[in-house]
Amino acid sequence: MRKNQFIVVPVLLLVLSVISVNAQKPAYLDVNQSIEKRIENALSLMTLEEKVAMCHAQSKFSSKGVPRLGIPEVWTDDGPHGVREELLWDKWSVAGWTNDSCTAFPALTCLAASFNPQMSLNYGKAIGEEARYRNKTVLLGPGVNIYRTPLNGRNFEYMGEDPYLASRIVVPYIQGVQQNGVAACVKHFALNNQETERMSINVLLSDRALYEIYLPAFKAAVQEGKAWSIMGSYNKFRGENNCHNDLLLNKILKNDWKFDGVVISDWGGVHNGDQAVNNGLDLEMGTSTNGLTTDGTTPYSQYYLATPYLQGLKSGKYSETVLNDKVRRILRLIFRTTMSADRPFGKFVSPEHSETARKIAEEGIVLLKNDNQFFPIPIDKYKRIAVIGENAIKSLVVGGGSSSLKAAYEVSPLNGLIKKYGKDHIVYSKGYDSGETEYNEEIVSKVNADSLINAAVEVAKTADIVLFVGGLNKNHFQDSESADRKSLDLPFGQDKLIAALLKANKNTAIILSSGNAVAMPWIKEVPAIIQAWYLGSEAGNAFANVLAGDVNPSGKLPFSFPKKLEDNAAISFGQISYPGDGVNEEYKEDILVGYRWFDTKKITPLFPFGFGLSYTTFEYGKISTDKKVYSSDDLIKVSFSLKNTGKVDGSEAVQVYVSQTKASVVRPLKELKAFKKVFLKAAEIQTVELEIKAKDMAFYNDKTQSWVVEAGEFILRNAASAADVKSSISIKIK
Ligand code: BGC
Repeated sequence: MRKNQFIVVPVLLLVLSVISVNAQKPAYLDVNQSIEKRIENALSLMTLEEKVAMCHAQSKFSSKGVPRLGIPEVWTDDGPHGVREELLWDKWSVAGWTNDSCTAFPALTCLAASFNPQMSLNYGKAIGEEARYRNKTVLLGPGVNIYRTPLNGRNFEYMGEDPYLASRIVVPYIQGVQQNGVAACVKHFALNNQETERMSINVLLSDRALYEIYLPAFKAAVQEGKAWSIMGSYNKFRGENNCHNDLLLNKILKNDWKFDGVVISDWGGVHNGDQAVNNGLDLEMGTSTNGLTTDGTTPYSQYYLATPYLQGLKSGKYSETVLNDKVRRILRLIFRTTMSADRPFGKFVSPEHSETARKIAEEGIVLLKNDNQFFPIPIDKYKRIAVIGENAIKSLVVGGGSSSLKAAYEVSPLNGLIKKYGKDHIVYSKGYDSGETEYNEEIVSKVNADSLINAAVEVAKTADIVLFVGGLNKNHFQDSESADRKSLDLPFGQDKLIAALLKANKNTAIILSSGNAVAMPWIKEVPAIIQAWYLGSEAGNAFANVLAGDVNPSGKLPFSFPKKLEDNAAISFGQISYPGDGVNEEYKEDILVGYRWFDTKKITPLFPFGFGLSYTTFEYGKISTDKKVYSSDDLIKVSFSLKNTGKVDGSEAVQVYVSQTKASVVRPLKELKAFKKVFLKAAEIQTVELEIKAKDMAFYNDKTQSWVVEAGEFILRNAASAADVKSSISIKIK
């Protein structure tokens, strides 16, 4: 009896004490409370110093939590194609961990080229799982800056030239990432459409172009994707740096769009204390680092939103209400992520992630030309296939700036082809050499170019066919952060090499990896061209599957390829329009970006937006609508038949463009308003149904500062690309 008492009493006491601890548990720790209640409770427990400490970096990629209250730090990481390796606390140099080699997913241009929002959801889920596994709070991506010129070094990280396409692709990516309890950070808000003078250029453009072209994807990311954070861009807009731009951050983002997440500065993008405090920035990162080029030179305590902020608050210069708003947002992000009750655990480099990466790559590859069915190449068709070109072997996940990855593996195109066709059938020669990949530094190759060409030509002569695998890469002045390309031409002497290859063997097909359009002086002479983007870890497998016909290509271009540089809208207006005069840059082409320009000005592009071939053919039926007359709140139901008229199964990204017959303002000849990826078995026919909101036909009226749908006639066209309209129908908006 006495013995039992010894056990029962302490157990009872323990139970009572657990109950009383639970009863006292503050609301911010109680996952059953609403996030807003948790925020208010945490805020009420914090000192001024603790609040300020949350608003700036404590290391290159992290910011403080509230250690005293057990509120965790915020850990960010790039983004957007894989989860970047660990870096040192206060340096850009790598930390040398051995557990951080990730899955490299295809570049976002490839994702956009899939024209498939489902692929984007799969992408977001998978990369979100990797970020979660690595204990990241925020993934620094995706990027949705609009493709304005083919010279922008970072186009490969974005989703092309069309605001509608980018909007539809960005939303599921964010949803997928955030399902993992990891915040997406949409970047770079806004108008960061070039790398030349990215830290200082002052962008000037009309409200109309801002709202119609450059903001929609960000707005969709915030309102539909419900992004938990957004990154300000380095450049200025109307004289104010975008990391503390009152109009962009306070008015548009937070007031008009009701964004309730965190505005994070780009690294080193903050330049003014008062503006940093008052103009909508919440979290200051990387100050005194010039993008990726300088290691920390200012102690974190000296950041604008650190000690100077605290002093200003204490002296009454700054209001605590504004500080509380920042802290609320940061706490909200923490409660949505690291302190959320149902945060999953993530996964890293899983076979499913490889499969996701491969499928996206396969869906994004674009077949641009295919005379006499050069592709697909059946396994036993040729004895000897020459593979020429550096991109068949060079890592294309390394380099390019902040999106550079330490991948767990990367299957090169050459290895993919060897696996597919057998090593006895493949012979390789490099053909050109691009030099080393170094950030912000061009290291020109010292290898003798002529001897590389000669060796490649010898190989080409003896082969049945030649597959040239080239394009751009992630070197400085190519597809890379901090500088733009110098020209539209293929670099590293590739045009000369291609000409020599064609002389040696006219069965030479061209496969290009790039995130940008390139000039193709040899276009008429080559039988086939493939645009293969940057495909990530599974590059070679996806590549070989498409080349061999195991996968039927279905990607379509998310941006137009101009025949020459001056055909590009921004560039056609001269230096002030691109790259600016060193201080200002005026977007003279206004709303006529990409195909909107080519179409309206009747300039024929080399390849139009939305273009891509298949190994099969499709027949489009005539477009019809459910009604003839709509009100501006209506949903327009569009349908047409689509038939696979070829011998193999395939998918087609169908597009619907809209034009207004008579408008009170200049309107583009047509604008994309709906698309769908449709899979059809050989000979199958389907009715494709799409929906367009009548209000999506609005233009932005600068004068009234509002979206306007004018009553009158609109033409809807179903199309296989911006230059391949199949049929049209007239409707009326009343
Ligand atoms: C880039 C951002 C990136 C950040 C952190 C900046 O230079 O512009 O896109 O997320 O560095 O690496």
